[in-house]
Amino acid sequence: EIFNLKFLLIFITFGILFRNFGKKFIDMLNFEFKNPTKIIFGKGEIAKISREIPKTEKILVLYGGGSIKTNGVYDQVQAALEGYNWEEFGGIPANPEYEVLLEALKIIKEKNITYMLAVGGGSVIDGVKFLSAAANYEGEPWDILKNGIRTEEGKGLPFASVLTLPATGSEMNSGAVVSRREIGQKLGMGGPGLFPQFSILDPEVIRSIPKKQIANGITDAYTHVLEQYMTVKTSATLQDRFAESILQTLQEIAPKMMEEEFDYDSAANFMWSCTMALNGLIQKGVISDWAIHGIGHELTAQFGIDHARTLAIIAPSHYRYNFEAKKEKLAQYAERVWNVTEGSTEEKALKGIEKMEAFFQSLGIKTKLSEYTENYQGTAEKIQEAFIARNWLAIGEKGIVKPEDAKKIVEMAY
Ligand code: NZQ
Ligand code: ZN
Repeated sequence: EIFNLKFLLIFITFGILFRNFGKKFIDMLNFEFKNPTKIIFGKGEIAKISREIPKTEKILVLYGGGSIKTNGVYDQVQAALEGYNWEEFGGIPANPEYEVLLEALKIIKEKNITYMLAVGGGSVIDGVKFLSAAANYEGEPWDILKNGIRTEEGKGLPFASVLTLPATGSEMNSGAVVSRREIGQKLGMGGPGLFPQFSILDPEVIRSIPKKQIANGITDAYTHVLEQYMTVKTSATLQDRFAESILQTLQEIAPKMMEEEFDYDSAANFMWSCTMALNGLIQKGVISDWAIHGIGHELTAQFGIDHARTLAIIAPSHYRYNFEAKKEKLAQYAERVWNVTEGSTEEKALKGIEKMEAFFQSLGIKTKLSEYTENYQGTAEKIQEAFIARNWLAIGEKGIVKPEDAKKIVEMAY
């Protein structure tokens, strides 16, 4: 009998070892998923604002530098708000500026605003998210950003959005990024209380977007998928395929979106891809990264480079620098997204990075820092110091990017 027990134990031990040896990936992570934003998608749907906001609300409509005044979006919003009690606040700049938002906060308090409607791209929607958090916050508003104070469910001032620029996914997520030029900072914030109540996505708004912003939108959404995909393999095969399908759709519509002629079907797929890239879905159960964004925000803060372009600068270097940690997934990306069938894992992975960089360049996006500024020397050290000062000692996938790694990644991107 003892012999049998020994045999059984050896059998079990080998069984466990064999199971783990055979496994090339880690288990799908546990997760919770709740996204309360209602999406209203399609032609002419801006009129539906009036179905969603009660007539009793005191509304503040917020927008950017004025594109909505010339492309007909403002007129549609105005028509939908017929019979409402509403005010407006324009002039929120790209990379929403803290000082400007404080002016809006004053109006919210003075006029007892109960509901905000963001009409714009990521900058306007993010600005409104900051205001949603700040309106009910007792302390110094800057602390929300400086200390990353989260806004819990039911705590923010209610708001909705009419999206005019597909890119960030801000229309269906609860995060925001706000800049304070005075001190050269660009910081993130968020919390489950900061989802828009509803967002209207009418692809027709894309007609008036300059090609430069279309290219930015495609690049931003594409990198959002990469940040949640290009990490260690997990067994979350459905999420992988969601992610790959968004990448492929963006690649497919990109040439059409860059043409002069407006194509509604491409525009619709572009818009929905951008939303799906960052509404939380593809991130569930997998390990995310976000180091490209962390480093990229510093380039916007230092040089004012468009958000998406900072990502195209950093992504290829980030993947080359962290090649060992990411090569399996890079190879999968090359195979499934670009049909690279030849070569070893390493060869495919490298090919994947090349394809990615070429894709950004095909949109007219430059992928080296020196192509944006002559004053790039010293940037890497500055970013390293900023991360240390902020106590960002281990960012990215499993914290593999330490401040000195960030420095090297930026140097590779010169
Ligand atoms: O200000 P107006 O005159 O409206 O012009 C805007 C702006 O100059 C213009 N535009 C927008 N819709 C248009 C249009 N022009 C013509 N026709 C239209 N229909 O486009 C310019 C850029 O707008 P902006 O809102 O700044 O762009 P985007 O949507 O790319 O937002 C960028 C900001 O979002 C943050 C970025 O860091 C950056 O600050 N992000 C927000 C995220 C989030 N909340 O989840 C995630 C992203 O990773 C990102 O960090
Ligand atoms: Zn982004």
